[in-house]
Amino acid sequence: MSDKTMLRALRGEVLPVPPVWMMRQAGRYLPEYRAVRARAGDFLSLCYTPELAAEVTLQPIRRFGFDAAILFADILLIAQALGPRLWFEEGEGPRLAPVGSAADVARLRPAASVHATLAPVYETLRILARELPRDVTLIGFAGAPWTVATYMVAGRGTPGQEPAHAMIAADRSAFAALIDRLTEATVLYLSAQIEAGAEVVKLFDSWAGSLRGRDFDDFALAPVRRIIAALKARHPAVPVIAFPRGAGARYAGFARATGADCVALDQAVDPGWAAREVQVDGCVQGNLDPGHMVSGGPALIEATRRIVEAFAGGPHVFNLGHGITPDADPAHVALMIETVRSARG
Ligand code: CP3
Repeated sequence: MSDKTMLRALRGEVLPVPPVWMMRQAGRYLPEYRAVRARAGDFLSLCYTPELAAEVTLQPIRRFGFDAAILFADILLIAQALGPRLWFEEGEGPRLAPVGSAADVARLRPAASVHATLAPVYETLRILARELPRDVTLIGFAGAPWTVATYMVAGRGTPGQEPAHAMIAADRSAFAALIDRLTEATVLYLSAQIEAGAEVVKLFDSWAGSLRGRDFDDFALAPVRRIIAALKARHPAVPVIAFPRGAGARYAGFARATGADCVALDQAVDPGWAAREVQVDGCVQGNLDPGHMVSGGPALIEATRRIVEAFAGGPHVFNLGHGITPDADPAHVALMIETVRSARG
């Protein structure tokens, strides 16, 4: 068994100091990231150039000494691997050729063909498995089917995911077929990431919060449960983190219902409530407001300590409640890490 702190916490150990890493830890708030990004040209070229993607993954490890490194890639690469064109509008965000009808879903490539496009991602992981310091855990990831589907249906990011909700209302079985294709492809993608060196995998369901009732069960819970069951059948020792962002009360019981080893909490969740209702089932990850990485100061220290204390009775991985933003100050990141590591004396 590995003695890496991240893996110990994910196996359910209660540690004197929680391991710490940060969503979007490689990103535009770091000048060294902006330099490599400029060299790559555009964001997708950076994702698909293994040497450069590995380099930006390593940058925050060197600068801050995080306990885990997350593969540098994007949740939308798998959409492109299924056929639709993907590009990023500078300063705006992702754009895709929309998948809006049963006919569009039927035209997608078979799940097993995704490896052709995603092979460079596996190469990035192989480089990282060689180059990371031995105490740092390597995290692979994918978007959860619902969140990836919201971008595929709309062809872009949307504030309330209205086009995906409209497709559910208009043709639930076509939408379910899209979710099924993504579920199958995600199992193959994450299995290949594990075979290339990922020691943990995380499923990002950034828009889970806009699903209610039966839709939450069918499109946030069921696909994640299926992916985890398939991964556990192939790679039983590899922990899975699920991030149903915005799930609110549905965070309670999510680990039990899906088989996730750890549930990542967004900053809207009260840590005291989550310690009672979510951490009872296993490890939790989170959940400092990323705004503290912009503002810093005593409020950052106080909020960090409060989270460490609230989760001290069970397994915990310290993280933000969502990704760090480009306007954050790297000095505040260093202060957060120092506070986590000294919080329990
Ligand atoms: O966490 C990490 O450091 C690993 C790499 C990673 C990125 N995106 C790099 C990225 C991960 C895990 C993601 C996940 C991702 N991508 C999500 C889920 C998590 C979340 O934030 O809710 C989503 C919804 C996406 C889709 C996506 N990618 C959008 C909407 C955007 C544009 C918005 C933005 O921040 O620019 C991206 C681009 C993106 N992905 C950047 C990075 C570092 C910025 C691109 C740049 O350098 O210009």
